Amino acid sequence: MERESWKSRTGFLLAAVGSAIGLGNIWRFPYMAYKNGGGAFLIPYIVALFVCGIPILILEFAIGHKLRGSAPSVFERVKSGKKSTFQMLGWVGVTLAMFGIQVFYCVVIGWCVYYLVAGFGFVDISKISSGKFFGNLIGSGGFFDFNAPEVWLLLAIIVVWILNLFFVFKGVEKGLERANKIFMPLLAVIVVILMIRSFMLPGAMKGIKAYLIPKFDKLTDINVWKSAFSQIFFTLSLSFGIMIVYASYLPRRSKIKRSALQTALINCGFSFIVGFFVFAVIGYLAFVNGKPVDKVVTKSVGLAFVTFPTAIQKMGGLKNVFWILFFLCLLFAGLSSSLSLLEAFVSSVKDKFGSSREKTTIITVSVGFILSILFALKGAGINWLDAVDHAMNNYGLVLTGILNCVVLGWAYKAKVLRRHITVSDGIGIGKWWVVMVKYVTPSVLTVIFVWGLIFTFMKKSLTYVLVGWGWFLVMILAAFLLSRSKWKNTAALKLGHSFEDEDNPLPYS
Ligand code: TRP
Repeated sequence: MERESWKSRTGFLLAAVGSAIGLGNIWRFPYMAYKNGGGAFLIPYIVALFVCGIPILILEFAIGHKLRGSAPSVFERVKSGKKSTFQMLGWVGVTLAMFGIQVFYCVVIGWCVYYLVAGFGFVDISKISSGKFFGNLIGSGGFFDFNAPEVWLLLAIIVVWILNLFFVFKGVEKGLERANKIFMPLLAVIVVILMIRSFMLPGAMKGIKAYLIPKFDKLTDINVWKSAFSQIFFTLSLSFGIMIVYASYLPRRSKIKRSALQTALINCGFSFIVGFFVFAVIGYLAFVNGKPVDKVVTKSVGLAFVTFPTAIQKMGGLKNVFWILFFLCLLFAGLSSSLSLLEAFVSSVKDKFGSSREKTTIITVSVGFILSILFALKGAGINWLDAVDHAMNNYGLVLTGILNCVVLGWAYKAKVLRRHITVSDGIGIGKWWVVMVKYVTPSVLTVIFVWGLIFTFMKKSLTYVLVGWGWFLVMILAAFLLSRSKWKNTAALKLGHSFEDEDNPLPYS
């Protein structure tokens, strides 16, 4: 069976960018920068981008392209001695992507759909209190207050899953590529409009100043560095097998290094730019409330679903248009990322069990939908969402990231991949990359990981830690079970792109 492929290189780039640009760029990055040193945060962020983001992105693109497979299929072929023992690592990634991120990610996109529909006049947005509006969606209570979800929200979540089903069901070219070719340009246009409008608001400059004024003393705080590294992982969709599978659909001669640089720069540039618009609006809210910026700024969920709506309500004419555009922007960014999370898992199952794309997608989406209801329950939902999100960000991504570097850098050998990149790209990649992947990146990440653990245990409640870790461990168990069964679709293990000259040592190596 021929493996599917992208129709064009731009299609691939848009899909990779679509996965990278997501909710995290809009609600996480600007707030994180503001809180962790403003303009000075760019220093740890850029360091994290170059020390770990770009090297790992190149690594994932390279292995996906060379072995043309999903994460489990690729890792199955990494041998230690005679036996292949790494398949489970691939499953850990894609299982966490699907059941550790996608399941709550779709609920958040569901909130966006709910707000979006409200903005079309179903609710008089100028009369509601945003706090109450959102409070009604999430309810109140602790981890074990399970109450039925808001019916309209449940419908919105179903819509999100159906969209996911539709595009992944259709396959790489007709589904994923098309979706991203629609969503990404629209996203760009919307952001430009929102930006222009927000700059005209009184107080905008004050907000932007608060976003950018550097506080260099923050750089001595290791938590700031930890945030920068975990944000880079999340934002570039690393470690969970996504970029591996996207690169596996590339044609034989592809520009691996260049695509990785482009993806990373477009994504991080987008985050930085969106920060201007986010803080212009926050500055405006501070202005109308007559308060300083630090009194109105909130993070993640609160930022997108309470602070922003409150600010928009206070705007003059066309506020509904601004409201709709803002939630469309979140929707497009979020959807294109969620497709990648689903695809990583679906393609893995397909590669191993030889099941059809259609059937695999339907089953995966059904299971995912049922699990996602937990995060939509009033009371309990938001607590679980926060704990699972925290677990993925602080140990899921980083831990798998370290293992990926070690397994691919040492057991598979980074220098083999370096040659592959060189021949495929037609221009060499420096030795620096091998040094990064084998030594620097995993060591830095280990420090960050250990620190993250200590921090969680000190600062968070026991239930919080147990729920996060519990979820994490259940996923690892699932990954273990998936890796144990027999590999049915052995043809998938034989795919790959290689070049004749690849095995000959290059003059400079
Ligand atoms: N990058 C996306 C964001 O910033 C989220 C995302 C998509 C993701 N796929 C991922 C995060 C894989 C981690 C791993 O919102």
